[in-house]
Amino acid sequence: MYESIVDNRFTIYRFLVQNSDRNINYVLSCNSTKECIVIDPLDKNGIEEIIKENSLRPKYIFNTHAHPDHIKYNDFFISKYECPLLAHIDCRELFEFEFENVFENDIVKVGNLNLKVLHTPGHCHEHVSLIFDRYFFCGDSIFNLGVGNVNFRGDVSMLFRTITHKIKNLPDQLLLLPGHDYLKNNITFLQSLYANSSEIGSELDVLLSNFKPSKLSPLFNIGFEKRNNPFLRIDEFTFLDCLERKDLFKNEKIEFRFKLLRQLRDEH
Ligand SMILES: [Fe+2]
Repeated sequence: MYESIVDNRFTIYRFLVQNSDRNINYVLSCNSTKECIVIDPLDKNGIEEIIKENSLRPKYIFNTHAHPDHIKYNDFFISKYECPLLAHIDCRELFEFEFENVFENDIVKVGNLNLKVLHTPGHCHEHVSLIFDRYFFCGDSIFNLGVGNVNFRGDVSMLFRTITHKIKNLPDQLLLLPGHDYLKNNITFLQSLYANSSEIGSELDVLLSNFKPSKLSPLFNIGFEKRNNPFLRIDEFTFLDCLERKDLFKNEKIEFRFKLLRQLRDEH
């Protein structure tokens, strides 16, 4: 079962993959041409249902990065629909099959829609995201109230730069469409950081009590992340002062605090 975000010009289809990692698969289509782009295909049947029910024509498969849960059905869709795969050039060492390179600021055309490529390394070096209209297909670079891990070919310094100097500067209105729905675990992590768990605030408290494992979380924008995502708040003393282990975060270097927070999240 998928959700549709419908605009005059385009439709974004999204659904939660029924796995423990709570992957989210996306298809974006142009309403007038029915061309579409399939992003990080993991659930073959779910994506096929969207394509068939809406009479879509895949123009591209797009990989935000080359981790196995984001590329699983690349070859199925490429051969069935005879459409090219788009991925960052650094995937050439990782893929045995052919693909077209995308770079920072490239424009991907799908029907009448123009999607802009953003290089967002750190979770892994080949990570790219897409910006389209008010939407940000951000893969595993940033999640609602969290950021990607760096355990599989990742680089935490690079992730720090991507989050702090790139993603944090994006417009507040941009809505995140992440590769996983980790909202619940990220709220409980945030709760565990505070000296007093009520610091989490009523907005996040309501989200936590409304959480249903089988449902996708609502959409949140960059402004919400700036207000609530701990990885975007490590330069705020009002935030750091509320933490139970605030002494750990005394180091003046923001990059140090970011790495420490990433480590604490891994241990959570
Ligand atoms: Fe990943």
